[in-house]
Amino acid sequence: MNILVLGSGGREHTFAWKISQSKHCKNLFVAPGNSGTSNIANNLDLSVNDFQGIKEAVLEHNIELVVVGPEDPLVNGIHDFFLNDEKLKHVNVIGPQKEAAELEGSKEFAKEFMMRHNIPTASYDSFTKDNVNDGLKFLETLNPPYVLKADGLAAGKGVLILNDLDEAKKELQSMLVDAKFGNASSKVVIEEFLDGIELSCFVITDGKSYKILPTAKDYKRIGEGDTGLNTGGMGAISPVPFATKEFLDKIESKIVKPTIDGLAKDNLPYKGFVFIGLIKVGDEPKVIEYNVRMGDPETEVVLPRLKTDLVEVFQAMGNQTLSRINLEIDDRAATTVMLVSGGYPEAYEKGKEIFGIDDVEESLVFHAGAKQDSDKVVTSGGRVMAITSYGHNYQEAIKKSYQSISKLCFDKMYYRKDIGFDL
Ligand code: AMP
Ligand code: GLY
Repeated sequence: MNILVLGSGGREHTFAWKISQSKHCKNLFVAPGNSGTSNIANNLDLSVNDFQGIKEAVLEHNIELVVVGPEDPLVNGIHDFFLNDEKLKHVNVIGPQKEAAELEGSKEFAKEFMMRHNIPTASYDSFTKDNVNDGLKFLETLNPPYVLKADGLAAGKGVLILNDLDEAKKELQSMLVDAKFGNASSKVVIEEFLDGIELSCFVITDGKSYKILPTAKDYKRIGEGDTGLNTGGMGAISPVPFATKEFLDKIESKIVKPTIDGLAKDNLPYKGFVFIGLIKVGDEPKVIEYNVRMGDPETEVVLPRLKTDLVEVFQAMGNQTLSRINLEIDDRAATTVMLVSGGYPEAYEKGKEIFGIDDVEESLVFHAGAKQDSDKVVTSGGRVMAITSYGHNYQEAIKKSYQSISKLCFDKMYYRKDIGFDL
């Protein structure tokens, strides 16, 4: 069948890489894609939110399966757009419908969902401009650090963690009254700070049953030792060494199962990935956030460990026969290290030629902010490429990623040299 992947990051290159290995894949398209996807698929020059353009491409190329990479089009209702169109409704779209995508689109919606279904998470309250004074008083009842979250999508920047009460009050006002994050912070969730180590759990569901993919841990901060600004993720490791069988069983019984049952009880239509951001507090898992898509760079370590044909998994999600699928997982560990443009996540330069890609033999190179420019590959974003390796354990894998990186270079290339340091 003909398949379309929406997105242009390392996550989407990894999806395309995995899908292109399937015997069911005839023609593969990626919109808009990057230099990596152009080597294994046909890039279409379309934005992920251009639903009309996507419709025309789907009809022109006879596409039967659409895999949505990022959250934006899901929160904007791309799945519903397909279902409501006579010519598109037969297409299997991987990603939840708009109503269910609110699990990522609104922090308050996600908190209310967790409360309703008894899913362990930080205690919270939410405020708007109209009761900002109640919010300020609520902050006084909490112990530092204070966690403030813009309710809506804020490109990963909407969470503030502050040690000082006065600063927290000032930020709350700036979010609610001065629209610090635009409309996304017209409502703010204030929550209890949870102290522990983070990990991510990835679930696929067809709305009836679910399967759990390998766990992963990503490294979000730009600086070594988890310091500095938050990024989309500077590297990742799978599996997570501290996620023992006992702990995974707890995650499944206390979080995954109630989440999937909750979606059904609330009539939230969901065929797609559920990315559950967790924190281990003592021996207990608690939910930090839901995302309605795969993580990036977590995809770059999770999919390489999946041996099962991914297109067969997607087909089963489409016909709600996921319970019949047996996921086969590679025992090896996988690690990835993100190469970024100097200055990211703030201002950075683009258009730098990337050297050495063909010299990497022991790792997988997943392109992200990189594009083909005649016979060169040049940087086109802050997150440039993810270098994934396998090993008997994460230490062996990460060593290989760093050896491969030593063959790569571009002007002002930066990466963290301590991925896995806390394990
Ligand atoms: P989120 O966008 O909700 O994932 O939050 C971004 C990051 O903020 C998370 O990855 C955590 O590192 C941190 N964080 C969010 N909520 C909490 C919390 N309640 N307690 C401690 N850290 C948090
Ligand atoms: N790596 C975190 C995310 O994809 O949201």
